[in-house]
Amino acid sequence: MKKDLLTIRDLEREEILSLVDRALEIKKTGRGRPQALMGRTLGLIFEKASTRTRVSFEAAMARLGGHTLFLSTKDTQMSRDEPVKDTARVLSRYLDALVIRTYAQELVEEMARWARIPVINALTDLYHPCQVLSDLVTVKEKKGRIEGLKVAWVGDGNNVAHSWINAAAKLGFQLVLACPRGYEPDPSVLEGTGSNVRVVADPSAAVRDAHVVNTDVWASMGQEAEREERLAAFAGYQVNDDLLRHGRSDIIVMHCLPAHRGEEISEEVLEGKASVVFDQAENKLHLHEALLERLIPAL
Ligand code: CP
Ligand code: NVA
Repeated sequence: MKKDLLTIRDLEREEILSLVDRALEIKKTGRGRPQALMGRTLGLIFEKASTRTRVSFEAAMARLGGHTLFLSTKDTQMSRDEPVKDTARVLSRYLDALVIRTYAQELVEEMARWARIPVINALTDLYHPCQVLSDLVTVKEKKGRIEGLKVAWVGDGNNVAHSWINAAAKLGFQLVLACPRGYEPDPSVLEGTGSNVRVVADPSAAVRDAHVVNTDVWASMGQEAEREERLAAFAGYQVNDDLLRHGRSDIIVMHCLPAHRGEEISEEVLEGKASVVFDQAENKLHLHEALLERLIPAL
């Protein structure tokens, strides 16, 4: 049966850990299974901007010997209201897997329901599962383990934060999110999580003794109109040298990028010795290679 990746909840703990290890192995050896996806085509439907996710999926597919087809939503009949269920069934006849970046999680779910091919969520307003899977690769690479770590999230309780919550629920590491009032994670995402996942208001409490601190933009794609009010609400939630003093001396700083220097993160921290953001960006490539190997059957 085909397997989709719509949220990290779709994966078992062992599947997550083995994807992380496979990505690290690919990174070490420089390549996935040679020509594993020769003759296969991956479609990419993007309704929002992307640098890293699009390019790393395209490069990963090329490294595995396959092809990609980039589809901006506005150039397809989806922009003229062709139903998702029709698009899904038609594209399933041409393609071997589909990556989608869009607004509503429901759209990705509907696509997956009707498609006969694997559907991969490349970011919605609710989740960014591929990002957090590759971030786990970075954590394992830098810290040698995931279990037993304390991970802090400082800022918006957004799509990336939601996927971190899913990951902590599956893997059991400690995750403390510091979010301003009104910008906490969606209660439905927190539902059923254990005591290893906590939401607090104070960023220094989240970072205290943390091995990893994560942040992301204060206004995500689609929230541009809220920018001014968000800038005010998030004052005091910047990841900067003062905040890092509360963490462990070997704390690493992560950001999925793109970053707004001087807002959610200071220039000094982003460019400083604790920052792993460019290795983090690179690891998207290796994780996507591992994921495509796993989800697309070879010919
Ligand atoms: N981190 C991330 O998803 O970046 P892009 O928006 O550039 O794909
Ligand atoms: N939260 C950000 C992540 C970008 C990769 C957004 O949705 O715009």
